[in-house]
Amino acid sequence: MRITVNVNGEDRTREVEPRHLLVRFLRDDLELTGTHWGCDTSNCGTCVVLMDGEPVKSCTVLAVMAAGHEIRTVEDLADGDRLDPVQQGFIEQHGLQCGFCTPGMMLTGRALLDRNPDPSDQEIREAISGQLCRCTGYLNIVRSIRWAAREEAAVAAPEATTPATATATTGSQA
Ligand code: FES
Ligand code: FES
Repeated sequence: MRITVNVNGEDRTREVEPRHLLVRFLRDDLELTGTHWGCDTSNCGTCVVLMDGEPVKSCTVLAVMAAGHEIRTVEDLADGDRLDPVQQGFIEQHGLQCGFCTPGMMLTGRALLDRNPDPSDQEIREAISGQLCRCTGYLNIVRSIRWAAREEAAVAAPEATTPATATATTGSQA
């Protein structure tokens, strides 16, 4: 079957078998190997990508089911040299060790913050509850996503820091 999937903002057309999985389409056909592949049985969640903004396990989605939809992979998170705040959060809060679960965790974090900019720790835990990490114990992953939420809130409300800056300026002039 000939399908066209919008991947990371670009229409990609390929001939695929009806049984071809989205994870294989991304990794093998498009060479987007940032999407990891673990259990192949919908258990580990390392294959998570965003489909129309929602996290999906790409080993449970047929490539033909993604035709006509928008898929976002980890390769699209950064804007050039500028990391997404979720990516930066994983650096700041040591949210990864081996990195195997990390692309899927970051995409789930991105989707969560896009619909809920100020999630509680419980809401973050619920969001990533379908994804396994063998390394971190999850605490630092939750901290990483929370760090990103705070960073985005600070950027969205720069006036919150303005009074302190004004006071400092006034003080230095006195
Ligand atoms: S590879 Fe998809 S859930 Fe494990
Ligand atoms: S960082 Fe190793 S599996 Fe999560």
